[in-house]
Parts: sequence; C-alpha cells; structure tokens
Amino acid sequence: MSPLPLRDPSLYRQQAFIAGCWVDAHSKETIEVVNPSTAEVIARVPAMGEQDTRRAIQAAERIRLEFAASSAAERAAMLEKWYQLILDNIEDLAVLMTAEQGKSLEEARGEVRYGASFVKWFAEEARRINGETIPAPTRDRRILILKQPVGIAAAITPWNFPIAMITRKCAPAIAAGCPIIIKPSDLTPLCALALAELASRAGFPAGVFQVITGMPQGIGAELTGNPLVRKLSFTGSTRVGQLLMRQCADSIKRLSLELGGNAPFIVFDDADIELAIAGVMVSKFRNGGQTCVCANRILVQRGIYDQFAARMVAETKKLQVGDGFAAGTQMGPLINKAAVEKVNRHIDDALNQGARVLTGGIAADNGNFVTPTVLADVTSRMLIANEETFGPVAPLFCFDDEQQAIDLANATPFGLAAYFFTENLRRSWRVAEKLEFGMVGLNTGSVSLEIAPFGGIKLSGIGREGAKAGIEEYLESKSFHIGGLD
Ligand code: SIN
Repeated sequence: MSPLPLRDPSLYRQQAFIAGCWVDAHSKETIEVVNPSTAEVIARVPAMGEQDTRRAIQAAERIRLEFAASSAAERAAMLEKWYQLILDNIEDLAVLMTAEQGKSLEEARGEVRYGASFVKWFAEEARRINGETIPAPTRDRRILILKQPVGIAAAITPWNFPIAMITRKCAPAIAAGCPIIIKPSDLTPLCALALAELASRAGFPAGVFQVITGMPQGIGAELTGNPLVRKLSFTGSTRVGQLLMRQCADSIKRLSLELGGNAPFIVFDDADIELAIAGVMVSKFRNGGQTCVCANRILVQRGIYDQFAARMVAETKKLQVGDGFAAGTQMGPLINKAAVEKVNRHIDDALNQGARVLTGGIAADNGNFVTPTVLADVTSRMLIANEETFGPVAPLFCFDDEQQAIDLANATPFGLAAYFFTENLRRSWRVAEKLEFGMVGLNTGSVSLEIAPFGGIKLSGIGREGAKAGIEEYLESKSFHIGGLD
C-alpha cells in the first residue's frame, strides 16, 4: 500500500528492478526513504551491495549483443513510448518527487517535463547516429567510420533532480544501444523505481534498464571495478567524481562526470536590472539553491550595487517556503540536516569576516527549512566564495570594472556555469569568450535544456550531456578499412 496519494499506486515500488523483475537485496536488508519536509519514513528499499550489482551486470551482459543489434527505429519507438508514459503519469511522478526530495509540487512537475524532454530528444537522435566515409588515399580502398554502442553503461545519479538526471543519462544510452544500470541516490530512489515501472510498460527488454538501490560504497565498487561495465556516468560532488575516476582506471572505462560548480553571476552597470533580477532569482533559488549550476557568487558593479541589492532583497522576501505539498509553496526544505549545517556554516563564516545580512540569516531550528538569505559585502576570502553552498543563500560581491569581474569569476578551480548581464554587444562577446566555464548564460539565469550540451571544465568534470554531444558519450567510433577493390 502506498502511503502517498498516487492515482496509480503501482508506481510506488519498494523493490529494485533487475533483469525485468522486482527484487529484494540478497542480504534482505533495507534502507529508509525519508520525506525531508516531515522526517517521516515513506518507504524502505533494498540495501543492495556488490553481489546484487553483479547480478544486474550479468543481466545486462545477457541482452547486450541483441540490444546492440536492434534497429534505431526500434529503440526510438521504445523511447517515444516511455516519453509518453512519463508525461501521462506526470502527477504521480511529481508526488513521488516532492515526497522524497522536498521540492514544491509545481517545481516537481517542471522537473518531470524537463526529464521527459531528454527522452524525446534522444528518441529522435537515435535515428541520427550517422557514421562517416573518409576519402581513401588509393583507388582500391574505402574507409568508413562505424558508430557502435560502448556496451554496458552505469549511471550514478544525485538526489537534487531524481528524474531528470536519470533520463539525461539513460535516454542517450538506450538510443545508442547500451543497456544501462542506474544507481539512484539512496535519498531519492522512488522516482527511479517508478521510471523502471514505466520503462517496463514501454516494452524495454529485460536487462536494458535496471535500477539497483542502496548505499553507494558496495554498488559503486562493483560498477567501477567490473570490466563488463564499459561506461560510467556520474553526477555529484567533485570529491566522489575523483574517487570514481580512480576506481575506473584499472578497466579504463569511458567516463562522463558532471561535478561541482561555483557559478559566478555578474551584473554590469549597463545591465537591464529587472532582467538580471529575474535571472538571479531563477538561478539562485531554483530547487532551493540545490543545483550545481546555481549562482554561487553574485558579482555586482559598484554603481548599481545598492539598487540591485534592494531589489534582490524585495524579491527574496516574497519567496514562500514550506512543505512542497502545501498550496503556494515555492521553495521546499533542504534535503537533510547536513545540508542545513553547511548553509549555516557558510553564513556564519561570512558574518564573522564582515559580511552583512540583508534578509534571512541563520534561523532558529526549523527542521530542514532554511530562510532565503541575501548577504552583502562578501569577499573572496570567505568560505561561501570558495565552496558550493547548495542552499538558498545569495552572497553579493562588489566589483569596479570588467577585468576585475572576469578575474573574480575565473578565480575558482571549478568551471561549470557562469552568467552575466549587460546590454553592451561588444562586452557580451568579450566576456563570454573570457569566462572559463563549460556553459555561459548572457542575460539569462538558465542554461539547462535538452538541446544544448551540459557540462563543465576543470574540476567540474568531463563530457557533455544532452544535445548531439550527449549520445556520442555512449558510442565508439570504429574505423573500417576495405582494400583490394580494384
Ligand atoms: C544539476 O544540478 O546537477 C543539474 C541542474 C540542471 O540540469 O539544470
């Protein structure tokens, strides 16, 4: 029985999905799934380990060659069906997401649509896995490049986007002809399991889409160590990404790593301030500030600093924080106590070093709920300038000229997303080209779309997701040389 108000209770699953079957852990142990708004236990899912993971890898291996031989049209049709089922069940998927992740129901619906957009995109891209022909140096030869699936793929996905980070990895894998094993965050497995139920209804062959649940260590060790797994895609912290990269070294796996960010959000004094305010509110407070592309350092030119700060405070005060299921809620809780502690540590450190609270600040103990906060007079020495806060705190920095803004923005080992606002065309090009980040937004606070490559440079990772580039991550190029054709 589902404790959640689902129209279709069979989307609430408390078992993992291996080889087309719903199964418990070999150990029979479970982990609890907790609603971050209420601290209620809403499910118990299998606490799987290395042995269960091996079982999933073996099931993927059994289907690998047959699936690789399927036609692009067959895989596209399967993905189209899954896409439609995801949209048909948007309300239930949003309820599961709000219950396990905390974001508002409205935001959860938005994520389901965002997640589905990757399935649609890669259903279409499946038909465009084109090879190449290369003009040969002699008359008797032909040279071609064949595109073939890399083999078994694995995805380790985060809790902040329990659906979109799965579809962004699985849809291109399946479009390319790779079976994929998903290890969702232990905090948010329910959406992943519902996606598995819908994949099964869409007719995915057993072993093509599998979900194993549990804590990361044992599962991660098997996924990275097992030579049958040829590709690993991970979204999460830089520290864990580095660890996984080391663990994949022995079997030389293909890797996509979408890791931490420290996004600068620059507002020049020639910007359209209202546009910049709209952009910063989206970028900073989407998902309660729990995104790796969210504005982490807001750099404002001196001449408009006070005006911008006042407008930002006014908009921030309007944000309605509460249980994601409550009417009118715009921002839910943070995911857990550790997240709240990190936010408080950043605010505390900034205040100790001379920053000022313009609104919000450290609130009295209120579970995982945090008051949206704006800080002024923040400097590069503070913790908040150097680490991802992953919470609803907007630190305002002041700068005097363009070069100083670029230097401040680039003064980080991370390179995921950056944003800037200006109405000056020449400056637009200059700044865009000098920012050392994988994604740059000009006059927008959002860079997340299925049609554009998503990913970072430096400590923010390797590889790209979405777009045409996303499917290449799951394909090998084989050179095929044909001689003696005279
Ligand atoms: C992330 O925070 O990991 C992804 C955010 C996005 O897709 O916009």
